[in-house]
Amino acid sequence: MLDLYTRAAPISEVLGSSGKAVVVKGWIHRKRSSGGKLFAVVRDRTGLIQCVADKGKMDAQQWDALDKAYLESSIVLRGTARKDDRAPGGVEIDVSEALVVHSGEQFPITEYQSPEFLLDVRHLWLRSQRMIKAMQARSYVFRYARKFLDKNGFFEITAPLLTRAGGETGANLFEVDYFGQKAFLTESSQLYAEAMIYSLEKVYSFAPTFRAEKSRTTKHLIEFWMLEPEMAYFNNAQNMKFQEKFVSYIATSFAKEHEDLLGHFGVSKDSLLKIRPPFKRLSYEKAIDLLQQKGSGKKWGDDLGVEEERLLTEGEEKPIFVHSWPKEIKAFYMPVNPKDDRTVLCADMLAPNGHSEIVGGSERIWRLDELLARMKESGLNLDNYKWYIDLRRYGSVPHAGFGMGVERVVKWLLNLDHIRDAIPFPRLINRVEP
Ligand code: 4AD
Ligand code: MG
Repeated sequence: MLDLYTRAAPISEVLGSSGKAVVVKGWIHRKRSSGGKLFAVVRDRTGLIQCVADKGKMDAQQWDALDKAYLESSIVLRGTARKDDRAPGGVEIDVSEALVVHSGEQFPITEYQSPEFLLDVRHLWLRSQRMIKAMQARSYVFRYARKFLDKNGFFEITAPLLTRAGGETGANLFEVDYFGQKAFLTESSQLYAEAMIYSLEKVYSFAPTFRAEKSRTTKHLIEFWMLEPEMAYFNNAQNMKFQEKFVSYIATSFAKEHEDLLGHFGVSKDSLLKIRPPFKRLSYEKAIDLLQQKGSGKKWGDDLGVEEERLLTEGEEKPIFVHSWPKEIKAFYMPVNPKDDRTVLCADMLAPNGHSEIVGGSERIWRLDELLARMKESGLNLDNYKWYIDLRRYGSVPHAGFGMGVERVVKWLLNLDHIRDAIPFPRLINRVEP
C-alpha cells in the first residue's frame, strides 16, 4: 500500500530506468483523459514524466481521485517504468497505485497569462518550469561563489542590515524609525566588511541590500543580494584580477556542470566557457570616446546608463572593466588616482549583451586626513560614520573590495530579459507583494 512516506525516486532517475517498479512523488503538471485512460505529466524538482493510468487496471476509488485531481494537486504514484520513444523523456510510468495527497482547488494559472498577473501569483508561478530552472541556477551561482571564496581563504562575515552609515547613494536609503531614532536599511555591507579586515584580512559578506531607487528598468531591484569581498593589502589592479577569476570560475563551473539548465534558457555551454581572464580594461575616458564615436551624446563627467552599457559591451563575448571614473560620480571612500586627480581608483565590470554592471569595486581610502577631506567634500554627516573613521586611526592598511549583484549575474548567465526572474519574490518599484 502506498502512503505518504513511501520512498520515492527522483524523476530524473526514473527517466533513466525501464522495466522497473518505481514510486514518484510530485505534482500534476499537465493532465488529460480519454476513454478510461488518464495521462498525467508529473513534476518534481528533477524533471517531468508522463504517467499513464488505466481505469480497468486500478482500484476504482484511486482512479476516481486521480481523475478529479487538479493541475498542481500533489500525488504519489506507483507503477512500472516503460521505455516509450514518444514520451517527452523517453520513459513513461504505467500506474498501478495512486495516492492523491492533496487535490485542493482549481489552480489559478492557465496558459497565456500577463506578466503582471504572474507576478501577483508569484508564490504559485514559482512552480513553473521557467522559475524552477531559474531558482536552481540562482542557487548554483550562490554555491560557486561561496566555493571560490572558500578555496581562496576568505571568512564569511555578516553585517547589520539596520545602520546609520549609508555607503553608496545617500539619496536612495530606506529610512526606518529605530525607536525614535533615524536608521536605514543597508545599501551595502562594505563599511562593516572593512572593519573586519583588520582582524580577518580576507572577508566577504553575502546579504540582502536595499535601494530606494525610483528606476523602472529591467536591471533594478529594490531589494537584491550582494556579495561583497574585502581584502587587506589589495590595490585596484589586484582587485580587478581577482574579480575576473571569480566571475570566470562561476561562469565556467556553471557551463561545465549545468549545460542542460543553460539549454533551457537558450544559452550555450561554449559561450560561457569563453569567460576566462583577462577581461578587457577600458578607462572611463576611453569609454566616453568610444561612446561618442558610436553617436552617444555623453561627455566627460556624465554617469553611464543602460544604453551606454549596452553600447560599450556590444559585440563583446566576455565582461569588460571600465576603470578610473570621475570622483564626482563615485562614492566617498574611493581614493583619488595619483595619475589623474579628476578620477578615483575604481572599476565597474559590465557583462556582455547589455546585461549591464555586475560588479562595482574600488580601493578604499586608508589615510585619515584624506578620508575626512573626501567625506566633507561629499557633504556627509560625519557623526554617522564615527566608527568608520576610527578604523583609520589604528593600524590602518591599504585595502580594496567589490560588490557583485547576484541577480545581475543570474540575469546575464541565463540571458534573462528582466532581473525579476532572478529572484523568487522580486521587490520592484510598484510591488512589495507577495
Ligand atoms: O556599484 P554598487 O552600488 O557598489 C556598492 O554598493 C559597493 N559598496 C560594493 C563594494 O565595493 N563592496 O553595487 C554593487 C553591485 C552592482 O555592480 C550591481 O551588480 C548590483 O550591486 N546592484 C544592483 N542589483 C540589482 N538591483 C539594483 N538596484 C542594484 N544596484 C546595484
Ligand atoms: Mg556601481
